[in-house]
Amino acid sequence: MQKRVFSGVQPTGTPHLGNYLGAFRNWVPLQEEYETFYCIVDLHTLTLPWDPAALNQRIVEGAAALFAVGVDPSRSVVFRQSHAPQHAELAWILTCIGRMGELRRMIQFKEKSKGAAESIGAGLFTYPVLQAADVLLYQAHGVPVGEDQRQHIELMRDLAIRFNSAFGETFVVPEAYIPKAGARIMALDDPTDKMSKSSVRPNSVINLTDDAALVAKKIKSAVTDSGSEVVAGPEKPALTNLLTIFSLFDGATIPQLEERFAGSGYGDFKTALAEVVVEGLRPIRERYLELMGDPGELNRLLSEGAAAAVKVAEGTMVTVWERVGLGARPGA
Ligand code: TYM
Repeated sequence: MQKRVFSGVQPTGTPHLGNYLGAFRNWVPLQEEYETFYCIVDLHTLTLPWDPAALNQRIVEGAAALFAVGVDPSRSVVFRQSHAPQHAELAWILTCIGRMGELRRMIQFKEKSKGAAESIGAGLFTYPVLQAADVLLYQAHGVPVGEDQRQHIELMRDLAIRFNSAFGETFVVPEAYIPKAGARIMALDDPTDKMSKSSVRPNSVINLTDDAALVAKKIKSAVTDSGSEVVAGPEKPALTNLLTIFSLFDGATIPQLEERFAGSGYGDFKTALAEVVVEGLRPIRERYLELMGDPGELNRLLSEGAAAAVKVAEGTMVTVWERVGLGARPGA
C-alpha cells in the first residue's frame, strides 16, 4: 500500500508566508510519492471565539489557497474536517485515553490560555486530541508541518502507541516532517515572534493574497538588526529571517546570498527581497483570485474530497469500534 501523508490548516484567515514556506510548499512534492490528505480543519477553529457569518467563506478561501500553491485535487484528497464526522468521534475516544497532565504541558495551550486559564474553552485544552484523531484516522505515516506543531505530533504518537498497546495494533504511529529551512518564519516587525494569522499588527505578516505594492511596503518596513551587513547568525535574528525567506524563494543558499549582498546595505537587500517574494507569490496570487471567482467549483471539489476521506476514515472507525468493545459500527 502506498504510504500516506496527512496535514491540516485552520481556516482562521488568509494563509501567510509562514504557512506557505513552513508547510504548504512541502505538501506539493509529497503528492508524487504518497497518498496525500489535506484538510481544512474547521472544527479546530471553534476552539477560540469565531465569527459564524465568516466561517464558510474562510473555509473556501483556505481551499483556494491550497489549490493555488499547487495541491492538485486529482492527486490529493482535500476536504473539510467537519464533513467527515469520524474526526469528532475518534477525538472522543482518544480524549478518554488522553491525560490531563500531558495536555496541560502543551505549549500552544499555555500560550493561548495565558491569563484566562479558568475561563478558556475546554475545546482549546483538548485541541491536540482532535488533531491526533485527524491524522490517526488515515493511518498516515508523515505529517508535514512547521516547527510549532512538533509537540502536537509527539502527543499524537503517544496516543497512538498507548491505544495500540491497550487495544491491539490499530494505528500507524506518525512522524513529523518538518523542513530544515522555513519551519519557523518570524514576524517582519518582531523577529522574536512567529509570523501568525492571529497577529493584529498589519505589517508583521505577508499574506499570500497581498499585491506587489503591499508586499514591497511590508518588506521595506521590516525591522532589521544593528549594524549594516547582510549576514545571518544568532546576533542577527531579523536578517536571518529575511535571508531565510530570500533563500527559499530564490534557491540560493544563505552563504551565497551573504556573498551576493556583501557591501550592499539593508535598503538594497530589501528591494531585492521584495522582488523575489513578489515574483514568487505572483502565480499563487493570480491562481487564488481565479479560483475564488468560482466558489461553487471549490465547494464541489471539497465535497468530492470529503467522500473519499470518509471512506478511509470509516474503515479505521470500524476497527476502532471493535477494538474498544463498542462492537459493530451502526450501518457496517
Ligand atoms: P495552522 O493553521 O496554524 O498552520 C498551518 C501550517 O502552517 C505552519 N505554520 C508555520 N510554519 C512556519 N512559520 C510560521 N510562522 C508558521 N505559522 C504556521 C504550521 O506549522 C502548520 O503546519 N494545529 C494545526 C492544524 C492541524 C493539523 C492537523 C496539522 C489540525 N489538525 C493535523 C497537521 C495534522 C494548526 O493550527 O496549523
